[in-house]
Amino acid sequence: MAGVHQQDRWAQWLLQRRDGGDPDVRERGAAMLARCRDGVLDGAAIAPGDVVLDVGSGDGLIGLAALDRVGEGGQVIFSDISADLLDECRRHAAAGGVPDRCRFVMASADDLRGIADESVDVVTTRSVLIYVDRKQEAFAEFYRVLRPGGRLSIFEPINSFAAEAGHHLFGFDLTPVADLVTKLRQAYASVPPDQDPMLNFDERDLLRWARTAGFSQLALDYRAELDVPEPLPTGDWEVLKNTAPNPLAPTFAEAAAQTLTEPERDRLDSHVRAILAAGTPGRKTLATAYLRAVHP
Ligand SMILES: C[S@@+](CC[C@H](N)C(=O)[O-])C[C@H]1O[C@@H](n2cnc3c(N)ncnc32)[C@H](O)[C@@H]1O
Repeated sequence: MAGVHQQDRWAQWLLQRRDGGDPDVRERGAAMLARCRDGVLDGAAIAPGDVVLDVGSGDGLIGLAALDRVGEGGQVIFSDISADLLDECRRHAAAGGVPDRCRFVMASADDLRGIADESVDVVTTRSVLIYVDRKQEAFAEFYRVLRPGGRLSIFEPINSFAAEAGHHLFGFDLTPVADLVTKLRQAYASVPPDQDPMLNFDERDLLRWARTAGFSQLALDYRAELDVPEPLPTGDWEVLKNTAPNPLAPTFAEAAAQTLTEPERDRLDSHVRAILAAGTPGRKTLATAYLRAVHP
C-alpha cells in the first residue's frame, strides 16, 4: 500500500510550521509578506513581456504576482530545490489559468544549469540566499542567466544582526527564566555561527557578491530595528509555541521537548503565559536588506 506523502521541510514550513496552522497568525504574516513581495517586484522594474526567473520560489509569493506584471506576452520561471513547492506553484498556476506562461525548474540557486545563458530579463529572490552556502556562486548564476540590461532584485533578512543582539523568543523579558533559555538555545544552534549560511553574512557581503559577479548600478536599502515594540500575531502561547522561526529550526515546543525537563517546560510556559496575559507586546529586533542591481 502506498504511504502518505510527507512533504519536505521547506514545504512543511511554508505551508504550516511558520504560522502553526493558525489562520490569524497566517493573516498577519500575509500582510508583511505582501509588502515584501511588492518591494522585490518594484525593485525589479518588470515590463510587460519580460521573462522573470524567481529563484527559490517557495509557494509562489513572488512568481505568481510577477505573472500579473509580465502580462500575456511574458513568462515566469519558478525554480526551487523543493519538488513539493514546485508542485504547489504548478497547482496555483493551473488554478489561475496561466500554466502556459510558467516554467518550473528544479534547481539550486548556485547551480541554475537548466536555465540558458542570457535568457531572462529579471531575476528575483526573497529569503533564499540565507539557506545557500555558496552565495558567490549563486550571484554568478544570476549574472549568467540575465540578458545584458537585465535586473536583479533581492530581499534577504540579515539574521546575524538579531543574533548578535541576543534577540530571543519575540523579545520577551526572559531574565527570570534565563537558565531555561540557555538550554533552549541549544536546540537552535546546530553549527557554529561562522559556518551557518543564515548567520555568516551581512548586507555588505550582499553588495560585494553582486559586484564581484559583475553587476552594476547596485542599490541596497538596509533597515534595522532593535527592540521595537510590536503586537504579536496572537496572544495564545499554545499557538505561538507551535510556530518555527525558519524552515530548518524546530518549533518552540519541539525545542523545549528536546532540551527541557517537564517541570522546566511548565516553568517556561507559566512565565510566557503571564507575559501574554499582561498584554505585553513582543519586541522586534530584525534587519533586512533589499538589493537591486543591473547586468551591464
Ligand atoms: C523562506 S522560503 C522563501 C520562499 C519564497 N521565495 C517566498 O518569498 O515566499 C525559502 C525557499 O528557498 C528554497 N531553497 C532553499 N535552499 C535553496 C537553494 N539552495 N536553492 C534554491 N532554493 C532554495 C526553499 O525550498 C524555499 O522555497
